[in-house]
Amino acid sequence: MDGARILLIVGGGIAAYKSLELIRLIRRAGASVRCVLTEGGAHFVTPMTLAALSEDQVYTSLWDLKDEAEMGHIQLSRQADLVVVCPASADLLARMAGGHADDLATTLLLATDKPVMAVPAMNVRMWQHPATRRNVARLRDDGVTVLEPDEGAMACGEYGPGRLPEPPAILAAIRTALGGDGDAVAGPLSGRHILVTAGPTHEPIDPVRYIANRSSGKQGFAIAGALAALGARVSLVAGPVQLATPAGVTRIDVETARQMAAAVEAALPADAAVMVAAVADWRVAQATGQKIKKRGDGAPPVLNLTENTDILATLAQGPKRPPLVIGFAAETQDVLANAIAKRARKGCDWIVANDVSGDVMGGADNAVHIVTASGVESWDAMPKSDVAARLAQRIAAALRTAG
Ligand code: CTP
Repeated sequence: MDGARILLIVGGGIAAYKSLELIRLIRRAGASVRCVLTEGGAHFVTPMTLAALSEDQVYTSLWDLKDEAEMGHIQLSRQADLVVVCPASADLLARMAGGHADDLATTLLLATDKPVMAVPAMNVRMWQHPATRRNVARLRDDGVTVLEPDEGAMACGEYGPGRLPEPPAILAAIRTALGGDGDAVAGPLSGRHILVTAGPTHEPIDPVRYIANRSSGKQGFAIAGALAALGARVSLVAGPVQLATPAGVTRIDVETARQMAAAVEAALPADAAVMVAAVADWRVAQATGQKIKKRGDGAPPVLNLTENTDILATLAQGPKRPPLVIGFAAETQDVLANAIAKRARKGCDWIVANDVSGDVMGGADNAVHIVTASGVESWDAMPKSDVAARLAQRIAAALRTAG
């Protein structure tokens, strides 16, 4: 973590005192910490304590940034390698999920272009409330890493999940988010390299037009994040999408199917591959270097299409095949029959099939079927972040069994 810069947003809650120990641990690991204290946080720790421990100025108000002429809050949000919200109260999570910018902390979180990690701490009932579940799912969909709270006795006398994780565990998650050694998080996927493809591809017609599809990339990004959270080193080959890179994930941006195929090849070897991308099946055979003009006689141009290489089938049947290869199937009819046939045709181990006749593409929820050699498992509709977390656990179990 040598030289890394952490922007630590200390929210309200009795657990705020643990952020003091976290500052000490981060600095001992060689990184610097700059603190922002929310109004709620200031009821539990003082700016003076944070300043003493971080040996830096502490920021509390949107209005006291001196260099607002230079867009001070934007600078502050971007001069860090990682933004950590600890503790993240139920209210702060809600305001983050809603995109609020009504204090310094939320303004920075909205203005940042850096990965964001939230470490929740709250009463067990607040953590389990549907509103908080929704906010956490939304944040994970947005690419924020939200750590799971610890379970145990709480300051309020109740028992259950909601306690802030211990500072050394938070430090380990920060290390992974910074792309440090993947083994830093002692997760079930520590030491594994997993390749994920996500998003659509754009196939050029001419310099200004392209063929595309409605994939948002959300499901693939959520899977990449969930795998990293279990300790895997993740290479995410991403088509053109508007999503933040999940913490701890190495992202390789591509546009076309051919670029995606090359990036997948370059990222090998891997212990597993999860091919979530909605790769265009066809590209224009001869994309022109000049913009195609209307001919004036009303006759439409003729586009000759040629089939793209099937990246999943090539990988699953090739010499560098990862031990576990997972494909996705987006179907609008006969979901299971098509998925079972697709699994055999492509040569992958599992197919995760979903019905895209509704608004799955771009939506937040997904109902999937896992088709494997031993049968079909159907999961209820759930947020894409929950599908991702469950799939990541299943991948970890499969790799453990395979040895
Ligand atoms: N895929 C791929 N390369 C392609 C096309 C698809 O890697 N050129 C992968 C996708 O990432 C996904 C799976 O194959 O994991 C299923 O893709 P899909 O388009 O649904 O299947 P197709 O093979 O195109 O079959 P069909 O057109 O009959 O639906």
